[in-house]
Amino acid sequence: MNTLDTSVILIVDDTPTNLEVLSEALTDAGFEVAVAINGESAIKQVEYDPPMLILLDVMMPGIDGFETCRRLKANPKTKDIPIIFMTALTETTDKVKGLSLGAVDYITKPFQQMEVLARVQIHVKLRQMSATLEEQNIRLQQEIKERTVAETALQKLTQELEQLVTERTQELSQSLHDLQQAQVQLVQSEKLVILGQLVAGIAHEINNPVNFIHANIYHVGHYTNNLLELLQFYEAQVTHFIPELQAKKEKIDLEFLREDLPKIISSMEIGTERISEIVKSLRNFSRHDEAEIKVVDIHEGIDSTLMILQNRLKPRPDYPAIQVFKEYGDLPPVECYAGKMNQVFMNILCNAIDALEKAIDDTNSSTLLPTIWIRTEVLGDDRIAIRIADNGSGMPEEVQQRVFDPFFTTKPTGKGTGLGMSISHQIVSEKQGGSLRCISSPGKGAEFVIEIPIRGKSSEVVTICHAIAETIVPQRSVGLISYERIKSA
Ligand SMILES: Nc1ncnc2c1ncn2[C@@H]1O[C@H](COP(=O)(O)OP(=O)(O)OP(=O)(O)O)[C@@H](O)[C@H]1O
Ligand SMILES: [Mg+2]
Repeated sequence: MNTLDTSVILIVDDTPTNLEVLSEALTDAGFEVAVAINGESAIKQVEYDPPMLILLDVMMPGIDGFETCRRLKANPKTKDIPIIFMTALTETTDKVKGLSLGAVDYITKPFQQMEVLARVQIHVKLRQMSATLEEQNIRLQQEIKERTVAETALQKLTQELEQLVTERTQELSQSLHDLQQAQVQLVQSEKLVILGQLVAGIAHEINNPVNFIHANIYHVGHYTNNLLELLQFYEAQVTHFIPELQAKKEKIDLEFLREDLPKIISSMEIGTERISEIVKSLRNFSRHDEAEIKVVDIHEGIDSTLMILQNRLKPRPDYPAIQVFKEYGDLPPVECYAGKMNQVFMNILCNAIDALEKAIDDTNSSTLLPTIWIRTEVLGDDRIAIRIADNGSGMPEEVQQRVFDPFFTTKPTGKGTGLGMSISHQIVSEKQGGSLRCISSPGKGAEFVIEIPIRGKSSEVVTICHAIAETIVPQRSVGLISYERIKSA
């Protein structure tokens, strides 16, 4: 393939005969021929219409062949055109000079036509090949350039894709994690709701009969006293008992009965009072019969929770009793999700009891006086603080960092789910708009500080609802008989 734009061969010679002979020979051989008779006109012609090859005479008037060659080689536009010198000079130095100036070959005069043609054909071929190579080279370079650009683009795309995949994977695992968490929390809250309903239901069912017994026990005591007094009066009047009566008196151990009956009645009274208190605590704890957000006495909530936890605070075979010190401040009624807040107190107090038991197990010491301190106070004019501290095992820094993380637990499998504190944190911060933090160090116990606003967002609505409820809901009846008795008492 001829990749050159031209197939012209330029002959530069000041001798017309030479021009004629060479032109004819080259034309016969199938080349197109152009001529110039001196160096200057040759340079102009080459620049204007570059030939495929130049046959250049050395000895010419004006600038000679060497100078012409030097100028052509100095011009970037013409430097690649092959030049063959034509010379009568036979000195090697002249040939070398020509070649060193950039000529590709030389022909000596007088011309041997066959030789001229052979040399011209070789250089034309070389020129064509070099042009083809050059073109291929350019194409290759272009291709390399394009490939590099494509590769860079591909690399960029791959990186972007990888980044996208990483981000998506992260998003997906985060969503999965959130979903799992939400699911467990849902199950947990569902369980608590069911437990709350159950507790509230039981408390409600027990409430009426207990009130009935409690209200009547006073009368039972009163009647018993009357009967015993009457009996005493009879005894004083009767000096001689018939044997059957005497036998009956001894059989029922009247003296002991007289002494014991008032005691029994009094302990029954204390017992029913206690049941009433427990029922009140259960109802208070579950808060099932109340609107979700309500103005409540925070201390009542803490006390109910403590009441429910009594069993764990009492002395047990391997553990001494846990003392509870309360330093209650003068708190105003606080607007909150009472049931949820009780859940928070329950979680914190359970953890404190666990930590105290752990401290006793770990140290194996009987010197530890397991204690829980509960302090409340008003902060500024719109917040309250509840601090629950224990002198249990405490927490190292790394546990403290993660205490509010969902599913974080240091307790044995089956004992802790690791959700107590994360749910409590969520309730205090998200539902109550407050904060829950923890202060602790290993072996030094732990303190959890809850801070919540006194009035929530929906305070006005709640206050109105509360007022309406108070007005329209009648007082609970305590049972017909006792009600009658109370009226007459
Ligand atoms: N008062 C405390 N003293 C020492 N460590 C505590 C205390 N309260 C919490 N922790 C640490 O924080 C961890 C997380 O508590 P969290 O209540 O969230 O879960 P848990 O008690 O392990 O399980 P559960 O979900 O049953 O409550 C506990 O496992 C414990 O290591
Ligand atoms: Mg817990």
